[in-house]
Amino acid sequence: MPRQENLRWIASLGLIGVWMVGLVLGSAPGLFGPGGAFSGAGMLFAQAAESTSFQPKFPLGIPGDLWSILVPAENPMTSAKVELGRKLYFDKRLSADNTVACSTCHDAAFAFADEERVAVGIKHQKGARNSPTVLNAVFNEFQFWDGRAPTLEEQAKQPLTNPVEMGMPSHDAVVSKLKGVPEYVKAFKDVFGGEITIDRAVQAIAAFERTLVAGDSSFDRFVAGDQTALSDSAKRGWNLFQNKGRCISCHAFNSTSPFFTDNKFHNIGVAMNAKSFDALARKAATLSGGSLSTLAHDEAYAELGRFLVSRQPKDIGAFKTPGLRNVALTPPYLHDGSQATLADVVDFYDKGGEPNPNLDGGIVKLNLTAEEKGDLVEFMKALTSDDIAREAKSRVAEQKK
Ligand code: HEC
Ligand code: HEC
Repeated sequence: MPRQENLRWIASLGLIGVWMVGLVLGSAPGLFGPGGAFSGAGMLFAQAAESTSFQPKFPLGIPGDLWSILVPAENPMTSAKVELGRKLYFDKRLSADNTVACSTCHDAAFAFADEERVAVGIKHQKGARNSPTVLNAVFNEFQFWDGRAPTLEEQAKQPLTNPVEMGMPSHDAVVSKLKGVPEYVKAFKDVFGGEITIDRAVQAIAAFERTLVAGDSSFDRFVAGDQTALSDSAKRGWNLFQNKGRCISCHAFNSTSPFFTDNKFHNIGVAMNAKSFDALARKAATLSGGSLSTLAHDEAYAELGRFLVSRQPKDIGAFKTPGLRNVALTPPYLHDGSQATLADVVDFYDKGGEPNPNLDGGIVKLNLTAEEKGDLVEFMKALTSDDIAREAKSRVAEQKK
């Protein structure tokens, strides 16, 4: 389907939030083929019965074969399930006081992250970590900064009952609440052939998240052979990224996994910005039990990072290497939101991170010139997906009205 037609088709739907399909479609070609549960439009749930098969098309730079492998056999993609998941993702009723949805902290206006230093949940409570984008989260080997969830399904269960996020008393309470909404009762029956359960709810949300795939950046066009797609500064930045800056050793990029992450955990010293390593290690020694989800949002423990999961002293202060696609759209940075701009992050690396006994061997003083620092930032800006930037801009403009 030609791009113009795609856009007209999306416009004709007139549903709040359905732009999402447009977002992926807009990058010609998109993840959804035409004729799915969305066509015909109008009624959000009316179409859910047709579990039409799912024909993904991927934006430039995104490996479709990897995506296909990552869809779990027990949670196959259907258009109706994606639509149900989309509805749940944007629904504030999933929180205790109906004020917070997944989309509150993973907001399309901010490339599916938010602009807060650390996450803010119900009753304006602050968490201890910065909200990462959910764009391309389908490609993460582990979810969360400390990797405590192995799948998108397991991930989605945690914020629902986290007291400082969505604050529901239990997963049973989430299910009872959803059962009070007739549209959901019908949609779950149509999609899953049965009643609402927490596992089905997170399956639908995860299916929706698997459509949040972003590519089609200047850098992708450059890799595809368009030499004019990058400015000279961004080209120099790409070179620095691979060589003098050593960035690529952790922010790995290759054709099978073009997401700028090695999916591993490293201590680059961020957790030692405010505290001493000794204090952190003492904290680690006091740890016996405790729910991982709660500890990760408790300021006293969150900085232990991967240690919370592995309980290996070498992992004290280690966090997951985040992917860098669309990073220019998601300030502030690092797991604690401690750096305001990309230039600040580059300065942090230039000085060799924050020295501590667990500092990763890959982190050294870089001695970058001012021009080189600027080039690295220009390179990272070239990782912005056109459609994601466009959507963020129009959403921010809307919110300002
Ligand atoms: C109050 C803000 C908030 C809400 C609400 C929230 N999240 Fe998050 N999300 C976060 C933060 C903060 C993290 C990182 C936490 C950590 O690493 O300990 C995160 C992590 C994630 C990740 C992992 C991404 C990665 O790169 O590791 C995914 C996926 C995600 N959230 C999806 C969801 C879904 C789905 C919902 C709704 C069911 C949701 N979030 C609700 C703040 C929020
Ligand atoms: C030793 C591995 C390693 C190297 C080398 C490395 N990074 Fe990172 N990077 C990480 C980890 C781990 C984090 C998250 C750390 C944290 O928050 O505690 C991160 C975070 C970032 C972030 C913040 C992203 C976000 O969403 O908050 C940016 C930007 C970044 N790195 C860019 C770079 C650049 C540019 C270089 C080269 C100058 C580089 N990195 C070198 C591992 C590395």
